[in-house]
Amino acid sequence: MLADLAPLDRTHLWHPFTQQSCWENEEPLFIERGDGSYLIATDGRRYLDGVSSLWCNVHGHRHAGIDAAVAAQLDKVAHSTMLGLSHPGAAELAGRLVDLAPRGLSRVFYSESGSTAVEIALKMAFQFQQQRGGQHVRRTSFVHLRDSYHGDTIGSVSVGGIDLFHSTYRPLLFPTHVVEPGDAEDLERLLSIHEEEIAAVIVEPLVQGAAGMLTHPPGYLRAARELCDAFGVLLICDEVATGFGRTGTMFACEQEDVAPDLLCLAKGLTGGYLPLAATLSTERIYAGFLGAPEEYRTFFHGHTYTGTPLACAAALASLDAFEEEQTLERLQAKTGLLWDLLGGIAAMPEVTEVRGRGVMVGIDLGVHDPALRLGHRVTVEARKRGAIVRPLGDVVILMPPLSISESELRRLVEITSDSISAAWKEAYPASAELAQAA
Ligand SMILES: Cc1ncc(COP(=O)(O)O)c(C=O)c1O
Repeated sequence: MLADLAPLDRTHLWHPFTQQSCWENEEPLFIERGDGSYLIATDGRRYLDGVSSLWCNVHGHRHAGIDAAVAAQLDKVAHSTMLGLSHPGAAELAGRLVDLAPRGLSRVFYSESGSTAVEIALKMAFQFQQQRGGQHVRRTSFVHLRDSYHGDTIGSVSVGGIDLFHSTYRPLLFPTHVVEPGDAEDLERLLSIHEEEIAAVIVEPLVQGAAGMLTHPPGYLRAARELCDAFGVLLICDEVATGFGRTGTMFACEQEDVAPDLLCLAKGLTGGYLPLAATLSTERIYAGFLGAPEEYRTFFHGHTYTGTPLACAAALASLDAFEEEQTLERLQAKTGLLWDLLGGIAAMPEVTEVRGRGVMVGIDLGVHDPALRLGHRVTVEARKRGAIVRPLGDVVILMPPLSISESELRRLVEITSDSISAAWKEAYPASAELAQAA
């Protein structure tokens, strides 16, 4: 049976963000099980999960508490709708998220992915401004950062700034204003010209993940908050990637004492178990939607699996794990070790820059011919050595689960370093010969 999987995959699957013409000529790796920081393939080989299964696993795979919570929820009900009904997990989780989130965020609107959390924040901001009336109805536009990434649905792509992913769709997208990442003066300049047309500014706080772990200078997020206040514009913080401890604190916003008007959460919300997202809003925004039914101020949005009980159970168990295992308290020593170890990689001649925060790491290999697929080669080499990493172009990304042990961290960095050397030698055989000769 297992032997038949590769042909089935090649014949019938279409993988995300994947050039299938390359994929069809490669040997697919089938992951069958997980165990802590490891993914286990159908052939029994164990791989360190160096990117937390696309940046979402928090406490490791097969976490006993989350497994038990999901199983217990299955004994009750897997799914019931949030449209016209509620359920205990949704209400309890909303209360706990509000307690954890930056001050002032008091309402939780569920969905299933980072893209939808952002889509919802954009629609809420837009509709809120429309329902304020008066000159605010002109606030129909959004500001986002160059190289931003907020997801793949049409709204979230509209506020995306990565040409490789987004430019094809431009004719379908709504117009936006783009500012330079980390440059508060540029944001001020733009807001002072267009203030009356802007509904909201959207930012990935501290780290622009998909841009290749681009970091902002300290104080940028705070400055963005102050500028939004000064110009009467809403601030949306997209913590889909940075949330749930990735930058060292529960939310990246905390590090600059910033409370956004809308906060987008997904990925790590369930510990990386099940699709669940949350868009948190202030009471001010929520109140802007209140009225008699015939006023049509309702937020007309909601997906079939919005806030599904199974995913809420996983999220509650994940928050329990944060408390019981003191995940954030124990993280500091690990990130210290990680960045010490990364010093070795930063010193490699093949590496241009290593950047990031907490457990979000981008190892930039510089500018290369895309046909060389240098980043991809690193992934292939890492796999041979027992780790799963995934590049963004020629930036090798590491984002291990917060639960990773110090010895596993050492192993991950060692594999990454060896894989970069091996990939480079393969891509540039002549330069390897020259180095040997020298
Ligand atoms: C900052 C940010 N926002 C939104 C998304 C989209 O999340 P999803 O893939 O769950 O739709 C991502 C995904 O990487 C992200 O990094």
